[in-house]
Amino acid sequence: MKKITIAIDGYSSTGKSTVAKQLADYLGYVYVDSGAMYRAVTLYAMQQGIISDNHFDVEKLKESLPSIHLRFLKEAAWNKAHIFLNGKDVEDKIRNLEVSEFVSPIATIHEVRVKLVAQQQKMGLEKGVVMDGRDIGTVVFPNAELKIFMNASAKERAQRRYQELVARGDDIQFNDVLKNIEERDYIDTTRDDSPLRKASDAIEIDNSDMNLEDQFHTVLQLAKDRIAGRI
Ligand code: CDP
Ligand code: CDP
Repeated sequence: MKKITIAIDGYSSTGKSTVAKQLADYLGYVYVDSGAMYRAVTLYAMQQGIISDNHFDVEKLKESLPSIHLRFLKEAAWNKAHIFLNGKDVEDKIRNLEVSEFVSPIATIHEVRVKLVAQQQKMGLEKGVVMDGRDIGTVVFPNAELKIFMNASAKERAQRRYQELVARGDDIQFNDVLKNIEERDYIDTTRDDSPLRKASDAIEIDNSDMNLEDQFHTVLQLAKDRIAGRI
């Protein structure tokens, strides 16, 4: 069967990674969580003291970029591939609110984006990939055969993310999660380099009132139609 490239972009906590992973599993495609790469660079900056006291040293981070090596690896027991930062599995460490608070400012740095976009494009060379993020349909794979843009109300998204973090055992407040989502939405949509935008040929889905199953079936139908050339 013909393999295509599927780009899923949208706001934080709209369900992009959940649906992208389900779709990749169903189609036998590779799933790539591009946000995990920006989060891993942010974690590196925190670990190296490049971020401290609410401040980060842009020049030092740029100089350190050649020392940052990211890879996705999957073991049979894991539900999805984990991201490795310089040989260490950091899949769990990159999901906390502290990383979330710095990741969007770090993702505005042009040199960071150049490095990560090049790696993402390499991963998609053979098609058969579902990648989610903010600039996948606009910058990483502008020729992707299927582009989805996901949205939902900020309150609904914050509620979803809050529940996820509480289930992980994180000690957090709903209002802090909501504030972080709103701040990231703002930075991600207003930055100069590759702002979050719906590509002109993307199909928009508002899933405020959709459960995971509805959302998966909607996206799967679009993928099947596009692979078969019906749309
Ligand atoms: O899952 P969540 O929506 O919280 O975020 P994520 O996909 O893990 O992405 C974290 C942050 O990385 C985003 O808020 C963006 O600032 C940045 N990002 C980006 O700039 N470009 C991408 N392709 C993916 C993520
Ligand atoms: O990747 P992104 O940040 O867009 O979102 P996600 O990590 O896939 O989803 C964030 C949380 O919202 C997860 O816990 C999903 O299970 C949940 N979710 C949901 O309950 N209903 C939806 N329609 C979409 C996501």
